[in-house]
Amino acid sequence: MIAIAVLLAQAITPPPAPVPAPPRPAEEIWMQKCKLCHGEDGRSRTVKGRKLKAPDFTGQKWQTHTDDREIVEAIENGIPKREMPAFKDKLTPEEIQSLKAFVRAFGRK
Ligand code: HEC
Repeated sequence: MIAIAVLLAQAITPPPAPVPAPPRPAEEIWMQKCKLCHGEDGRSRTVKGRKLKAPDFTGQKWQTHTDDREIVEAIENGIPKREMPAFKDKLTPEEIQSLKAFVRAFGRK
């Protein structure tokens, strides 16, 4: 009887509107998901970064030869042949945009 009442209550009570998680700051995501390969300083001088030949984001050459679309695409889809993971399902579009700006900022240091 109680089970039926619960089911009824669930059927008539609309589910609460999902509260979107606030976007996390790019730096926090970087430290959790990118630092392992690309390093805290964006130079990719980590054990994994060296092994996989990840780029030095502080290099002016890399900054000029890479456009914003390529940065976003790399973060969304990853680079499977070089073992960079895809983040499309783990980050929101806003978070990916803010990471793009974060990667760009390494070029201004
Ligand atoms: C497992 C290691 C690994 C992790 C973790 C990783 N990357 Fe990468 N990333 C790479 C490698 C290796 C490359 C170089 C691929 C190439 O040059 O083809 C790369 C390339 C890139 C590029 C350059 C793409 C281009 O066109 O030159 C960007 C931007 C980038 N990563 C951003 C990120 C961000 C942001 C994160 C975290 C959300 C991240 N990466 C996490 C390994 C990693």
